[in-house]
Amino acid sequence: MSERRALVAANWKMNGSRAANDAWLTEFAAGSDGITCEVVVCSPYVYVPQLRDRLAADHVGAQDVSANLAGAFTGDVSAEMLRDVGCGWVIVGHSERRQWHHETDEMVALKTERALQAGLRPLVCVGETLQQREAGQPLAVLSSQLAAILQRVGADGLLRGGLAYEPVWAIGTGRTATPQQTQEVHAALRAQVHQGAPGPANALRIVYGGSVKPGNAPELFAQPDIDGGLIGGASLVAADFVAICRATTV
Ligand code: 13P
Repeated sequence: MSERRALVAANWKMNGSRAANDAWLTEFAAGSDGITCEVVVCSPYVYVPQLRDRLAADHVGAQDVSANLAGAFTGDVSAEMLRDVGCGWVIVGHSERRQWHHETDEMVALKTERALQAGLRPLVCVGETLQQREAGQPLAVLSSQLAAILQRVGADGLLRGGLAYEPVWAIGTGRTATPQQTQEVHAALRAQVHQGAPGPANALRIVYGGSVKPGNAPELFAQPDIDGGLIGGASLVAADFVAICRATTV
């Protein structure tokens, strides 16, 4: 952790119901006194208005956004629409979107630009697969994913949101990247941003995602370049999510 304010985002993925979300929000509100990190909750699209009823826009996020502006794109939701319903953040380029919906680096970069144009704060994900890590190329893969984003929106654009490192092999597997492995990657990503934009690079929040739990969060967040987390499974339990948020200050 550093002088950058920590950011912890919940990614509920395709989970939730009105009743379950309501209970979560109540438990979160009751337990969140004194949390100092910035908190964002990212729900499926349909529950964004429900989140917005209970949280300020700065704390409400969606999990994806269309690369298109409007028109004949059945099933898509535009950045302007998200903004219109009071959403403040959006996750872009999650590995599950890249894998199951074949999103390329260029599409992810375009989505990031759309989000920024609409006034949303993008939390842009990069991450390598197990195969890529075992081939000894994680940094090359990550570097080209990041380069596509920087080329389109620049470091200043990215700075309006944040960057999330999510190694695909650590997502939902119980296998967490070690704090040292993660720190090494975060430092390399920051160095890449730094090459063209030293100021934004120092201010950019780079958060880690992949089997973060209350038990392993403190050691991860203690690393100098890990500025918080993007939390999947553990974010579904409000008490665990609160504990992870608190781990940014220990
Ligand atoms: P888990 O915390 O379940 O590993 O998920 C991480 C993730 O993909 C968050 O976006």
